Amino acid sequence: MVEYTGKRLIQLNINGEQFSLAVEPQETLLEVLRNQLGLTGTKDGCGTGECGACTVLMDGKPQLACLLLAIDCQQVKITTIEGLSTGRQLTSVQEAFLEEGAVQCGFCTPGMVLATSALLTENSRPSEKEIKKALEGHLCRCTGYNKIISAVQQASAKMTRNVT
Ligand code: FES
Ligand code: FES
Repeated sequence: MVEYTGKRLIQLNINGEQFSLAVEPQETLLEVLRNQLGLTGTKDGCGTGECGACTVLMDGKPQLACLLLAIDCQQVKITTIEGLSTGRQLTSVQEAFLEEGAVQCGFCTPGMVLATSALLTENSRPSEKEIKKALEGHLCRCTGYNKIISAVQQASAKMTRNVT
């Protein structure tokens, strides 16, 4: 068996910026985001694809950063929670999570917010069933989920109002 050791230089497009980074072949995207780039909004929950806390967007689609090797992420645009809003202006989804009390410890929140943003980009008026489907795989130990679902519905209403 061939063993791959030693760092590789890779290019990652993160939140609209291009980064050149030296990474071990086995390093995950989650590790690189948190440990090399200081983007700690992407949470390290289970590390095994079970909790959704490490969710980022890749070309607009939610992906689990703990299951991806950083070297395999060179051809896509990655968005983390730090890149979602511009400046200090929160997005409608972020505002709705705050207003509905859908944030308690906040550990699940970045993943929930990114998954919600992706959902509402594709489907601005999701049904409750569609919201639950989009957020399945995101574990929250604090809010009991009802407030999160209300937040998604409120964000949907805000966004729909804003474009009409
Ligand atoms: S840390 Fe990736 S799914 Fe839990
Ligand atoms: S707010 Fe604490 S895990 Fe969801």
